[in-house]
Order: sequence, then C-alpha cells, then structure tokens
Amino acid sequence: MQQKADIIVHHVEVATMVGGRYGLIHDGAVVIQEGAIRWVGPTEDLPDLRAGEIIDGGHRLLTPGLIDCHTHIVYGGNRADEFEARLRGATYEEIARRGGGIMATVRATRAATAGALAEAARPRVQSLLDEGVTMLEIKTGYGLNLETESKMIEAMERLSAELPVEIVKTFLGAHTLPPEFQNRPDAYVDEICKTMLPEIAHRVEAVDVFCETIGFTPAQTRRIFNCARNHGLAIKLHAEQLSNLGGAALGAEMGALSADHLEHLDEAGVRAMAHNHVVAVVLPGALYTLGDKNRPPMDLLRQYHVPIAVATDANPGTSPIFSLLTVMNMACVLLHLTPEEALAGVTCHAAQALNRQDRLGTIEPGKQADLVCWNVSSPAELSYYLGYNPCHLIIHHGKVIG
Ligand code: NIG
Ligand code: FE
Repeated sequence: MQQKADIIVHHVEVATMVGGRYGLIHDGAVVIQEGAIRWVGPTEDLPDLRAGEIIDGGHRLLTPGLIDCHTHIVYGGNRADEFEARLRGATYEEIARRGGGIMATVRATRAATAGALAEAARPRVQSLLDEGVTMLEIKTGYGLNLETESKMIEAMERLSAELPVEIVKTFLGAHTLPPEFQNRPDAYVDEICKTMLPEIAHRVEAVDVFCETIGFTPAQTRRIFNCARNHGLAIKLHAEQLSNLGGAALGAEMGALSADHLEHLDEAGVRAMAHNHVVAVVLPGALYTLGDKNRPPMDLLRQYHVPIAVATDANPGTSPIFSLLTVMNMACVLLHLTPEEALAGVTCHAAQALNRQDRLGTIEPGKQADLVCWNVSSPAELSYYLGYNPCHLIIHHGKVIG
C-alpha cells in the first residue's frame, strides 16, 4: 500500500456482506485510495498512514452503497387515476386490457422530450440517492418504437451525466405489444430483433422481456434473448409475476443474470435458477401496490441457495415507490426476509443481478469505494423504520457525496 490514503473511515460497525453475510467488524475501519477500498479491519489494527481525510464514524453502521437492480424510473406522466380505479375494484390486467396500464405510460412517454423525461425522473432518482443508493438499473419499455426507446436511453444518459450514481441501462422493448402491431406479436418481435436492437445494442448492457400472458410468450422471449446474445448483451426477465409460463427456467437455460417478480414460480423453476446461478429479484413494492396475495416461494429459494435480491421496481403503475429502505422493510414484513437477507438483497446480491459482483456490493479490499454510513447501531435497524431516512454519510467511488 502507498503511504497516503485519500480517506480513512474509522470507529464504524462494518457490515462487509462478503459471502452474503453481515460479517460485522466491530469498531472497524476502511482505508480508501483512488476510488477503491484498500484495507478493511478493526480500528485498532489500522495501518499507520497519512490520510487526506479522516472520518470518525461514531460507531455507526457502515454498509456497501445500496444498489437498486430493477427500476422503470424514467417515464412520462403518472397513473394516479389507475390507483383510484384499483381502489374501486378494477384489476391490473383489466386496466391493461382496456388500453391503460403500461400503454397509458407509453402514450405519455412518446409525447415527452428526452429533456422532459430526465427532468421528471431526476427527483425520483434523487430520492433513491438520498437513501444511499450508489448504483441503479433503469429499463426502457415505455417507448415500444425505436424513436421513443432511444429517447428514454438519452434521458438515462443525461441522468447518468448529472447525478453521482452509476446507471445500468436495460432495453425492455418487449414490455407490451404496441398498438401499431395489434394482433401481430411476432411481427413486433421481428421489429425488436431486426430494427430496434441493432440500433440500440451499443447504448445498453442488458435486454429484459416481460414474459407473461399479457406480455410475451416463452417462444418470443427465447427469440429476443438469442438476438440479445448475438449482440453480446446480458439477459434478464420479468417472470412468473401473474402466471407461471416457465419463464424463469427458460431464462436460466439461456444464461439470464436474474429472473424478477416470481410470485408464481414453482420448484422446477427454482431448481433451474439454482443450477444456473440466476439471481431471484423480489419486488415487494409491486405486490404491495397491487394487493397481490401470491408470494414468491421464499423457502424454496433459500433451500436451493438461490441468491435473493430486493429492488423497488420503481414505476408509475405497479410500484410508485422511490425508497429502497421502504422496500427492504416490505421484503421483511411481506416476504419474511430477515434484515440480513434484505441487506444482502440490496448490496451483494443486487450487484450479482447486474453482473457487478467483482467490483461492487461488498466491503473488501479491491472493491470500488461505494459506502454508506448510517445513523443506526445494528443492521436490523435499517429495515425497521418506515418513512425515516437514517443515512448519515455517502461515499461514491471514493468521494464523499452526501
Ligand atoms: O415490473 N410487469 C411489468 N412491468 C412493470 C410494470 C410496469 C407498469 O405497470 O408500468 C413491473 O411491474
Ligand atoms: Fe419491473
């Protein structure tokens, strides 16, 4: 190690999350140099170093920067009217079938400029960042044509340039069937594979498909994934949210990073995910918002050692929630995750869902210095509060940003 550190944080309770566990280091310290973590251990063993800045953590909890690995946070308009309709008894599928739902947001998104989309998304993203999110994934999928999907990506690029957060961009052209292709789903899949993906591939990292009765069939999903892989892109999918089409097993067979939602996942799907190291992303905000009584098979996921990530699914329809801490609480209360599992779900396992596990998600030497110091004394306290932000200090890429 060189003799001068940029930042030393000491007297903190370090939740390293190495191996998916708290791995708490009591009265610990972290040495940061050139954006990376160089040393982690007990404060009393700190190497004798000069440092640009020494931060006394006052025995607060230190965790990796939080990662929201599944959002649709860039969109036009809002769907408060559908919230009211559902309160009066309409279901999500009924609203979708009568032209609302995702299509309502598609109309508003098509009508907006890239600048307006970024402007509308900025406070929502900021609300995540204020709670210690240092990386997030954002999906397209409210354009459903080349022009608007590209515009959504431009909005994400603007946010990425303006805000201290790393953004993973995912193409979700296969979110729903646009009206231009009504009754011609295979022609739309052609459009995605032959026109949209070739134009968009260099601007995104991954391709997602809504594999569902009101979305795309497993056969269509497979075609899109083959095309994504030909462009060197990662794949992931919305699977088993409203019904069981075997999407998770299909994704596993094709090397998906994650299968997300999973309320109707069966044991065969869990087994396939375990076998192929697919991360299960649970989205309790969506089942909370929709009043869905179904639950992902948490015990089976644990039994087969499938890594479980937790994300907001931030979107205007099923999860208008811009607080990852709230969603951690929901994961504990609604899905019975332990606070340890919830924290792993927004750190190391979320990193894996975005293929960043080599660089992010844990506190250990060599990892990028994305860290959050919390005004709490135990990890359980992080998932415990609702409507209270105990974030004390955020370090992103080795710089104190808040
Ligand atoms: O993850 N399930 C599909 N996509 C989103 C919902 C998007 C919307 O309703 O606008 C989801 O729940
Ligand atoms: Fe989603």
